[in-house]
Amino acid sequence: SQYQKGVKQLVENGLHTIPKKYILPLSDRPVANPEDSNVAKENLQLPIIDFSELLGPRRPQVLQSMANACERYGFFQVVNHGISDDVISSMRDLSGRFFDLPFEERAKYMTTDMRAPVRYGTSFSQTKDSVFCWRDFLKLLCYPLPDFLPHWPASPLDFRKVVATYTEETKNLFLMLMEAIQESLGIIIEEEESEGKDNILKELEDGSQMMVFNFYPPCPEPELTLGMPPHSDYGFLTLLLQDHVEGLQIQFQGQWFTVQPINNAFVVNVGDHLEIYSNGKYKSVLHRVVVNAMKKRTSVASLHSLPFNCTIRPSPKLIDEANPKRYADTNFDTFLTYVSTREPKRKEFLDSRK
Ligand code: SIN
Ligand code: FE2
Repeated sequence: SQYQKGVKQLVENGLHTIPKKYILPLSDRPVANPEDSNVAKENLQLPIIDFSELLGPRRPQVLQSMANACERYGFFQVVNHGISDDVISSMRDLSGRFFDLPFEERAKYMTTDMRAPVRYGTSFSQTKDSVFCWRDFLKLLCYPLPDFLPHWPASPLDFRKVVATYTEETKNLFLMLMEAIQESLGIIIEEEESEGKDNILKELEDGSQMMVFNFYPPCPEPELTLGMPPHSDYGFLTLLLQDHVEGLQIQFQGQWFTVQPINNAFVVNVGDHLEIYSNGKYKSVLHRVVVNAMKKRTSVASLHSLPFNCTIRPSPKLIDEANPKRYADTNFDTFLTYVSTREPKRKEFLDSRK
């Protein structure tokens, strides 16, 4: 049907109202009525982590801020992260040029196979969503790079080169953030154990990485739909580059708050796997995307976790008599099977591990 071609196509064909397919039930709309808790009332000033300070004398204070952010919001923003403006602007530019390709060119990558190395699509879960959301996307598997890069789109010009550089740099940043997060959890790995079973950092070096390019065209009736429904991310951390257009909202104390865009900063959030690893100390928090009538919005999310065949379990270092294990062990296969049989909304998967 026409909806399977995505919202960019729909908008380019011209429309003044949105098709029924995109209209959410009243209770799920971003602005159902002003009394409703669904309405985002204000912006949330998320904790800002100055990454360069992690490498200096203020590291202990920065670790404390990270711990507070992960416990309270499940989100923080990172500035001075060392990824150059050049690398970031090339990636933004490339993302724009990809969605500018003729539809037929993008459509080559349409598939419903969740394990495909490249997947172009629309909505959140195209085969299962009863109401579609106002978003088109491109997803790329990234690690190990030599396995996947040859499958990536070869156009627009320099696509593979630009994305490969960005992929490697975000992976490095992710690993450094995880080292800090592990320390912030009070998990100290002794030298002699570094090959041992709780060396999550070693496993994460070879961990999975997925790059998601999101495109939200202007929407004539933004109050009736969403760019992404409320969901939590599955991995350890997501590193999100949003543009200057607001749209990302996170749930905090039962209400929705907009995450203020900061130029070239990363919005970093705790995923389900880190919530499990931290035995519930750090929270994988619901978030969603609202769209707007005037401006298109783009974002690029880099999702990181363990290798596909690894077990995800609470760190043994965080479990003792006073702190019993709160989640059952799991792995990617369980996750993929779970999400391919259910609508992967809310935090049902995480709850199923309790
Ligand atoms: C997300 O990946 O959940 C949010 C993406 C966005 O802000 O567009
Ligand atoms: Fe997300």
